[in-house]
Amino acid sequence: MDEQDIYLVIGEEGFRRLIAAFYRQVPSDSILGPMYPPDDLAGAEQRLGDFLIGRFGGPPRYIEQRGHPRLRMRHARFPIDHTARDRWVLLMGNALDETGLPEAADAILRGFFDDVATMMVNRAV
Ligand code: HEM
Repeated sequence: MDEQDIYLVIGEEGFRRLIAAFYRQVPSDSILGPMYPPDDLAGAEQRLGDFLIGRFGGPPRYIEQRGHPRLRMRHARFPIDHTARDRWVLLMGNALDETGLPEAADAILRGFFDDVATMMVNRAV
């Protein structure tokens, strides 16, 4: 499957289910919980969903509303060490397990999350 076909296959609904399953775990997480805005988790959910939808073949809403992603720069204010990175990937892995997307889409997304999460690390340890 081509990356750009993921939106065609899983649709808006597939992405929204995945991201909802991720954010359901965030507030009670000891590392990630304190980093996310408690009063704007719905907004955070919307931003990540819009970003992924645009990245994988859907409408470019994220870029229209937020501009170029510059993800490393946007994450610079959060202390992301390897432990935080691994926790993010773990929670997203749980979300993928729960969502049960078609195998090919699941594999591409897992690889993407793994790579991008590593790029977000901005603290030693
Ligand atoms: C490595 C661990 C990561 C941590 C600890 C982390 C943490 C955060 C936090 C605290 C926010 C602010 C929430 C908000 O108000 O939008 C955020 C935003 C965001 N994150 Fe991450 N993130 C991580 C990895 C990733 C990865 C792998 C991706 C892409 C697949 C990603 C994509 C985004 C996007 C698109 C936003 C919204 C940026 C904006 O428009 O302001 N993050 N992240």
